[in-house]
Amino acid sequence: MDDERIVSGEATGTDEEIEKSLRPKRLSEYIGQKNVTDNLKVFIDAAVMRKEPLDHVLFYGPPGLGKTTLAGIIAAELGVGFRITSGPAIERAGDLAAILTNLSDGDVLFIDEIHRLNRSVEEILYSAMEDFALDIIIGKGPSARTLRVDLNKFTLIGATTRAGSLTAPLRDRFGVISKFEMYSKEELEMIIERSARLMNVEIDTESLEEIAMRSRGTPRIANRLLRRIRDFCQVRGDGKINMSITESSLDALRIDKLGLENLDREILMTIMTRFKGGPVGIDAIASAVGEERITIEDVYEPYLIQSGLLHRTQKGRVVSDLAYHHLGLDIPDNK
Ligand SMILES: Nc1ncnc2c1ncn2[C@@H]1O[C@H](COP(=O)(O)OP(=O)(O)O)[C@@H](O)[C@H]1O
Ligand SMILES: [Mg+2]
Repeated sequence: MDDERIVSGEATGTDEEIEKSLRPKRLSEYIGQKNVTDNLKVFIDAAVMRKEPLDHVLFYGPPGLGKTTLAGIIAAELGVGFRITSGPAIERAGDLAAILTNLSDGDVLFIDEIHRLNRSVEEILYSAMEDFALDIIIGKGPSARTLRVDLNKFTLIGATTRAGSLTAPLRDRFGVISKFEMYSKEELEMIIERSARLMNVEIDTESLEEIAMRSRGTPRIANRLLRRIRDFCQVRGDGKINMSITESSLDALRIDKLGLENLDREILMTIMTRFKGGPVGIDAIASAVGEERITIEDVYEPYLIQSGLLHRTQKGRVVSDLAYHHLGLDIPDNK
């Protein structure tokens, strides 16, 4: 069932279509992430003034926070072409070479999930990023030689959920490294309001606030909840989104007041009941709830930590008093 994943920040098939229409196209429409955009504005202006390509940029942070969107905006602000690919999509070195040789001067190449590039592909990137050149090996054995092919200058924008998984040589080749933060409630309200306007649906202020509070600081989730609520509204309501339809829809989707879904609650509950509240290692949690460690770390944990329900300590994960309170359990005496 797909409500199972409704609060995941990762994009699903239907998301991608609709997201295109909700995606801001220019920096002036892009809400929040001031730490990232303020600096970038300066670098973009400087690059335009010098008529040089922008330095390579690395974006990192949880899914759904606007990395792909901002990469597209950068290309638009620079007035250059935008080419999108992803780490897992580039299988062989030749695939990347083909992409690179097809770039026009100054283009932005966006590589999503750049931590998932395989080694032989990644090595091609080093000289491409540094010297705008490809070193191609021709022949085999002792007679092999390398041929250097010049490329047009370009800007690489890489995105990853985990900056720590990038190799040092790759990371070092980025001139700008920016961390994406979760959005504040006010920023999410602005995003939801904008999306509702684009979707031509009326929504009251209370509902805006409620959806914002349950969106885990993530615009993709906010937009997804808005769409679901609009569906409920069309079927059961009078076409306007109000508090009663918002609350009943979110309840039907099993999203609680803090935006937690079943698996979030299960993670917290498991730590409380099976591991005495922690500290417990991530692998033990993963196997107890039957999810992959990486999914818990990238998708679930960031918000649980951000909202103060879970702490990461040297010895492992520990649930907070707030988590006991939220799930309606007594805080054990021995804590
Ligand atoms: N700063 C923002 N302002 C408005 N909408 C945003 C913003 N960031 C993200 N969104 C919305 O959230 C969706 C997901 O963003 P996306 O760039 O695909 O996230 P990421 O690449 O980090 O996973 C976009 O389609 C857009 O509608
Ligand atoms: Mg993306």
